[in-house]
Parts: sequence; C-alpha cells; structure tokens
Amino acid sequence: MDSTSMLYQDVESELLVTKEKIAERVRELGRQIARDYEGRDLVVVSILKGSVLFFSDLIREIDMPLTIDFMQASSYGNAAQSSGFVHIKKDLDRDIEGKDVLLVEDIVDSGRTLAYLKTMLKERGANSIRVATLLDKPEGRQVEMEADYVGFIIPNAFVVGYGLDYAEKYRNIPEIGILRPRVYQG
Ligand code: IMP
Repeated sequence: MDSTSMLYQDVESELLVTKEKIAERVRELGRQIARDYEGRDLVVVSILKGSVLFFSDLIREIDMPLTIDFMQASSYGNAAQSSGFVHIKKDLDRDIEGKDVLLVEDIVDSGRTLAYLKTMLKERGANSIRVATLLDKPEGRQVEMEADYVGFIIPNAFVVGYGLDYAEKYRNIPEIGILRPRVYQG
C-alpha cells in the first residue's frame, strides 16, 4: 500500500487482505469451480454492486464456457439491523430453469440477503444454486447460510475495498482493509 495515497486515508494501516492474497485465492477458487462444474450449464451471477470486482476477476479464472447475469438486492431495515425483507432492485435478464447457478457475493454477514435469494431462485426451477463469497463474517450470522466457496473468513469488523463500500465510497481500493471507526462515528 502507498501510505501517501488519499485512497487509503480512512482505512486502518494494517491491511486485512492484500492484492496478492486476493489474486492467489481468486485463482484457487476459479480452478475449484471449473472442476466442480465441468460439463454443466453454469450461470455466474454477480450480486451488485459489491461483488463486481471479485466477480470480474473470478470469471476470468473459471476455465470453461459459462454465461453471466446480474442481480441487485437491498434489504429493508435500519443500518443496525436488517429486517430480513429483501427488495429486488434489478432482476436477472435470463430464465434460469434447469441451469446451475453460482451467486457471487462480496460478503456474507447476517446471511439474510443470500438466504432469501437462494430460496427465491430455487423456486424458479434452477438445477442447483450455490454461493461464492469473497468474505465471510461467521460471527454476524442471524440465519443459517453457508457459502459453498469462501475467499477469506474475517472477524466481525466493518471492511471496505475491492468492491466493498461504506456509503458508496471506497469500492475502488484494490485491497481490503478495516474502515477507521472515526468515519462512521462522526
Ligand atoms: P447480509 O449477509 O444479508 O447481512 O448482508 C450482506 C451485505 O451487507 C453485503 O452484501 C454488504 O453489502 C453488506 N456488508 C456486510 N458487512 C459489510 C462490511 O464489513 N463492509 C461492507 N459491506 C458490508
């Protein structure tokens, strides 16, 4: 990290996951996914917006034919607690009946968003639905939700970078760090 960079000023100086670690893990996950889905009709779905960086790197490491689609969901509720109701802001463009769907998410925290999306998409007749998440915060879990592919398990801290935001900022930081509490404590 360039300590003089304005991009990093709100991030704790000790990075949680570096560029190199991300690239290495994404490569491993891509190889594993290609092995697991060999010969299947795979649709990889980016859950907007947080997963876009992970998604675009991951699909280039999956060495097999596949299609992509996008979905955007937001959970209702206040900042401290999501209510469990999920609103679909952008739905898939294509039918997923009979397809093997891999949902790509930035981070699983309470698990509510993905639990809802998995149930909803299953009802549309997908052959299988699995989840790949870059980060997993198991301590935050409120509902049962286990991702099938996990990049990194992290502690219960608020992190930004590599697609993850706070108030829509910091998504373009190329690595992942803990947001300095002064940012949200005002
Ligand atoms: P949940 O698993 O339904 O609680 O929601 C996961 C969503 O909450 C993610 O897709 C992120 O948008 C957001 N989120 C949870 N923890 C963090 C974090 O540490 N940094 C940034 N966004 C987070």
